[in-house]
Amino acid sequence: MAEEAIRIENVTKRFGDFVAVDDVDLSIAQGEFFSLLGPSGCGKTTTLRMLAGFEVPTAGRILLEGEPVEKVPPHQRNVNMVFQSYALFEHLDVEGNVAFGLKRKKVPKDEIRTRVADALELVDLSSRSAARPNELSGGQRQRVALARALVNQPRVLLLDEPLGALDLKLRRQMQIELKAIQREVGITFVYVTHDQEEALSMSDRIAVMSDGRVAQCGPPEEVYEHPNEEFVAGFIGISNLLEGRVESGGRVRIGEDCLAVPDLGDGHPEGEMVQIAVRPEKVAVDELGGEPYRIEPDMFTVEGEIESKVYLGVGNQLTLKLGNGGRLVALEQATYRMRADEQWEIGQRVRIGWHPEHCMVLS
Ligand SMILES: Nc1ncnc2c1ncn2[C@@H]1O[C@H](COP(=O)(O)OP(=O)(O)O)[C@@H](O)[C@H]1O
Ligand SMILES: [Mg+2]
Repeated sequence: MAEEAIRIENVTKRFGDFVAVDDVDLSIAQGEFFSLLGPSGCGKTTTLRMLAGFEVPTAGRILLEGEPVEKVPPHQRNVNMVFQSYALFEHLDVEGNVAFGLKRKKVPKDEIRTRVADALELVDLSSRSAARPNELSGGQRQRVALARALVNQPRVLLLDEPLGALDLKLRRQMQIELKAIQREVGITFVYVTHDQEEALSMSDRIAVMSDGRVAQCGPPEEVYEHPNEEFVAGFIGISNLLEGRVESGGRVRIGEDCLAVPDLGDGHPEGEMVQIAVRPEKVAVDELGGEPYRIEPDMFTVEGEIESKVYLGVGNQLTLKLGNGGRLVALEQATYRMRADEQWEIGQRVRIGWHPEHCMVLS
């Protein structure tokens, strides 16, 4: 385990009676790309602001590289923050914007020149150093904001929805660049986003937040493949939820059917009601009575009918009505294997299946 860059110890933040951050306990490693992911209002920005020193925890403490920081003012913390509204100085050129903080700190001129050049190189803006912000695209402005933070050589960079103002395509491109920059400079990133795809694609670990608390914290694969509760399963991707009763031998009864659930573990006594979640992309659908095409022999299967179909370009999203009145969503990816004559009809009877190991048990 790498050294600890940040420790957040049982931190609570109240504004009057309102609990914005609720007993959060996190440890972030040196050089980690760590994301705080959650819906608007869940306490992400407040958590970042406490790390930066703009807010003081009501309870608990924060340590940066092992040192408690409650008495350290923001400008003396070795952290920098990049905001979504990256207010640039419109009257200064790119170089002036990036150099601004160093000049104010009276860093020697030669050093400023080298450090600004390095920072601009890093964000691929060397050729635009003389441009004014209003001559730049949204993505370039964002890079200036990033260079302005990196030039301070902070140990930790705090990023609050930094790509929120960019359109989707540019955002995806900047995600890749940001991640590459983070790898290159090796500093710890704490990245706030409400975009689950963004968090999944960039992070070493993700803390999923809900109502001020951390619902789950782990690597992207873990929070996606093994969400620990309904909120996480629903916020990161779509999940189908099925109610079931635990029976002996690691089996769960769902309606008429009983299935062995490898993810069940030992912690669930017989008779307990559990929720089973299944991702739409794990659900296979075949026409009823025909040759099995997608459904595989070791899948758990039920019968149902197509209730609706949404064409997505990369595939179809099917809503399936089950015999017991329940519903499932299946995401059918278009692939080279798809037959040209295949057309789902509303009301068509189908067989629906998924592998037992794709059942996620929620607490
Ligand atoms: N200074 C403040 N005074 C009162 N309430 C605040 C203050 N700052 C944040 N809040 C509230 O705390 C909650 C969490 O806010 P915030 O951390 O900004 O959420 P997020 O960044 O996840 O959208 C929100 O309900 C917000 O209205
Ligand atoms: Mg916020």
